[in-house]
Amino acid sequence: MLPGQGGTVEVAEGEHLHIMPFPINSVRASYPALTDGYAYLDGAAGTQTPRSVIEAISDAYRSGIGNVGGAFPASHRSDAIVAACRAAVADLVGGDPGGVILGPNMTTLTYNLARAIAGPGDEVVVSRLDHDANVRPWTQTGATVRWAEVDPVTGELPVEQYASLIGERTRVVAVTAASNILGTRPDVPAIAELAHRAGALMYVDGVHATPHGPVDMRALGADFYATSAYKWSGPHIGAVVADPALLETLRPDKLASSPDTVPQRFERGTAAFADLEGVTAAVDHLAAMVPGAGTRRERLLTSMTAAEEHELELFAVLLAGLETMPHVTVYGKPARRTATAYFTVAGHTPRQVAEHLAGLRVNVWNGHNYAWELTGALGIRDSGGAVRAGLVHYNDRSDVNRLLEGVDALRSSG
Ligand SMILES: Cc1ncc(COP(=O)(O)O)c(C=O)c1O
Repeated sequence: MLPGQGGTVEVAEGEHLHIMPFPINSVRASYPALTDGYAYLDGAAGTQTPRSVIEAISDAYRSGIGNVGGAFPASHRSDAIVAACRAAVADLVGGDPGGVILGPNMTTLTYNLARAIAGPGDEVVVSRLDHDANVRPWTQTGATVRWAEVDPVTGELPVEQYASLIGERTRVVAVTAASNILGTRPDVPAIAELAHRAGALMYVDGVHATPHGPVDMRALGADFYATSAYKWSGPHIGAVVADPALLETLRPDKLASSPDTVPQRFERGTAAFADLEGVTAAVDHLAAMVPGAGTRRERLLTSMTAAEEHELELFAVLLAGLETMPHVTVYGKPARRTATAYFTVAGHTPRQVAEHLAGLRVNVWNGHNYAWELTGALGIRDSGGAVRAGLVHYNDRSDVNRLLEGVDALRSSG
């Protein structure tokens, strides 16, 4: 199959998946912000939003929305917005709409859930690969903490260690589906198998993974799958998806007066209804990036598979370019990864590199990016971390070229 041309790949014996060519120009044209002349390589910290999402949010406000559960049409509109949002998120991750918990962001939802899931007397297994939002909420429950270590050279999270970390007192294994700085995609299904064999729950942080390819939370073995819409072209909303029957068994802290139904039991205060409409529009946008047929779930799988192929093709150029520069150190070389590069430049602090690139209208992030344990394990947390340049579906070859030219220009100016 020629790069960018689409074609058919065998995903299992006798099973073929049709990969569509990725229409990068039309995808880019749907994002108003991309016309400002900047190369947006900061998607891992938050993506831009397409016109359809911006309009959906405005339309919700324009049409009149009330609080949920009222007797009048504006309230019914909000009821419908919430239900549609749960259905959309469920389609995106392969979950059950009745188990989609919505909230302001992944961190807030995870803190709330962690206290409902684990406590003193339990054991929790966390990893040093994870963003701190899937670490501290668990270590602060009062449970005994077991740490899964990262290989600092490869950036891999070896699965074998989990056999000795998980035991009969393990309540939850919290692990990321992809590192937000190195892009590492650990073998989550294998870890889940060990967790489930011991009767433990799997809490999978899908915040970084979700934008970078098709997601099937059941195939991952995730009992909980967390994601944030602002990483995949939506507004600043988080979601955690679980089996409603599992949620029924948990009793989170909640107001006496708020609904005790599932998933509402886990949702605090009044939702950002207009933003939830934007979340649905974002899922619809992702499903429609490449022409496809079938249900929204099927179109999402086709579209996100094509997007992943597009990203990885560009990333091969980006990574090869950085790795050939003698003044650049790239961290990690995981076998399976998202299109996310983390690197330092000799003679320049990560902040100086980011400022230099900003002057060339190239947006990258610098610092530890909340990968607190991982940057500690890499030995760079206290020296300002590194520079992160990440690709998402709307990035193109010119974004990559501009990054490489900008970094190359720092070759002898240290
Ligand atoms: C991998 C990962 N997990 C969790 C989070 C936290 O998500 P939120 O900002 O929705 O709390 C982030 C945010 O950058 C992330 O990249």
